[in-house]
Amino acid sequence: MPSSRLSPRRILNEIKQFGITVGDTFFPFSLWGKNETGEPLLLPDNPLHKRPDRPVTAVTLGAGARGNVYGDYAIEYPEQLTIIGVADPNPLRLERYAKKHRVAQENCFTNWEDIFRRPKFADAVIISTPDQLHYAPCMQALSMGYDVLLEKPISPSEKECRDILALTRQTGRIVAVCHVLRYAPYFVKLRELIHSGVIGEVISVQHMEPIEHTHMAHSYVRGNWRSSKLTTPILLAKSCHDLDIIKWMLGKESHHIQAFGNLKWFKKENAPKGSKPRCTDGCAVESTCPYSALKIYHRKRDRIYVFDLPEQKRKQGEAILEYLKTSDYGRCVYRMDNDQCDHYTANILFAGDITASFNMEAFTPWGGRRTRVMGSMGFIEGDMDQFSIHDFRTNKLKKYESTVQDVENYTNEGHGGGDWRLVADWIQAVSQHNPELLSSTIEASIESHIMCFMAEESRVRKVVMEIRM
Ligand SMILES: NC(=O)c1ccc[n+]([C@@H]2O[C@H](COP(=O)([O-])OP(=O)(O)OC[C@H]3O[C@@H](n4cnc5c(N)ncnc54)[C@H](O)[C@@H]3O)[C@@H](O)[C@H]2O)c1
Repeated sequence: MPSSRLSPRRILNEIKQFGITVGDTFFPFSLWGKNETGEPLLLPDNPLHKRPDRPVTAVTLGAGARGNVYGDYAIEYPEQLTIIGVADPNPLRLERYAKKHRVAQENCFTNWEDIFRRPKFADAVIISTPDQLHYAPCMQALSMGYDVLLEKPISPSEKECRDILALTRQTGRIVAVCHVLRYAPYFVKLRELIHSGVIGEVISVQHMEPIEHTHMAHSYVRGNWRSSKLTTPILLAKSCHDLDIIKWMLGKESHHIQAFGNLKWFKKENAPKGSKPRCTDGCAVESTCPYSALKIYHRKRDRIYVFDLPEQKRKQGEAILEYLKTSDYGRCVYRMDNDQCDHYTANILFAGDITASFNMEAFTPWGGRRTRVMGSMGFIEGDMDQFSIHDFRTNKLKKYESTVQDVENYTNEGHGGGDWRLVADWIQAVSQHNPELLSSTIEASIESHIMCFMAEESRVRKVVMEIRM
């Protein structure tokens, strides 16, 4: 059977006639099919994009999942980006990343701080370290004159976010925040249609982030983001994308926010009778538990990118079992030290009396996003694979289907094609020294972070918060 995982080059060959071009560079990973009336739905070329004179050089801080997503762009498009340095305390990740990008030994480091002990030796840094290690490297990078690709959240603290904004303004460097949904063709198109007035005046928005129940268990119950105190509250960790995309689609200032949410299910009192501290301990309900680590990681081989597995497939099963016996990923979801909300709702009042409601839901069978936009002359409904527009004036329904291909060979998730399109725009912004080529500059991104901080304060204090920039 042919593999469903197409390499970017193969996708390029197969769909060239419908693809999107950016300047003279072809981006194969996101395209729109034809709608029912046969009109092609292509994102326009950006006339400001140019082939760089030389590849942008970058150093990656954190060679984990995200560091690889962004770094892999350099493998596919070496004429645009070269990774010339890397830092990670995990020796296997460091070695694999260095080998993949042919990084010289003297440019491999075990800690991000070591990079900045050297005089500046690259154009830019990619900051893909854990949440609490964004601020210090970003401030250091800016003060040494590096441009930055900065993973979200900008920082877990509002003050630190504002400090980064201030230093960016002062130094005039480029800082792209990885609000990748802003670059997904689905959302780009949705925003464009909303702004074109196709549904009249926007009255309100309903937006839902369905996390998917095993993704919730993986990242926010067992995984790295299970403690809101050690990392960031789930709204910032997971849904800062969503408050950001709502705001970006509307293009309005937010004025007030009110939130509710709590951890209802993944708690000790809900542990089934016969369950054990680990799924590998002979749990009596393992075979029927949807959150069984044996089922998710060993039998289905889902989300195993978090393990540093041997390259030979035949050795991986045994290694996964060993991880399940020793790491947090094998622990019972009801017996963790987690505190992240598993459902969260926020209402936002925007300028112009537009209201938006947001729901983050752990208990869904699918991930992605679901959005409805209510306008005076029409209604839009979409799920990131497709959206439809109902025009009240003609009573006609138009459907648009996205045929986005995530670059799965290279990444664990592509955010609807947003991941690499962000990198493409960031490279343009760095090589042309022009932040206007980005839609997620720190200036543009900070408001949605402030919305998250205010929402959390509202949730905890049970009050409506005014959003002050
Ligand atoms: N934009 C998005 O949609 C998106 C998606 C997932 C994660 N993220 C964010 O990206 C960041 C990284 O997440 P991830 O999933 O890649 O995590 P990860 O754990 O896979 O990678 C982080 C890497 O940083 C390394 N690291 C830790 N301390 C370090 C140090 N002192 N110096 C250098 N490296 C160090 C770790 O060893 C690890 O390899 C997080 O802030 C996360 O919230 C963003």
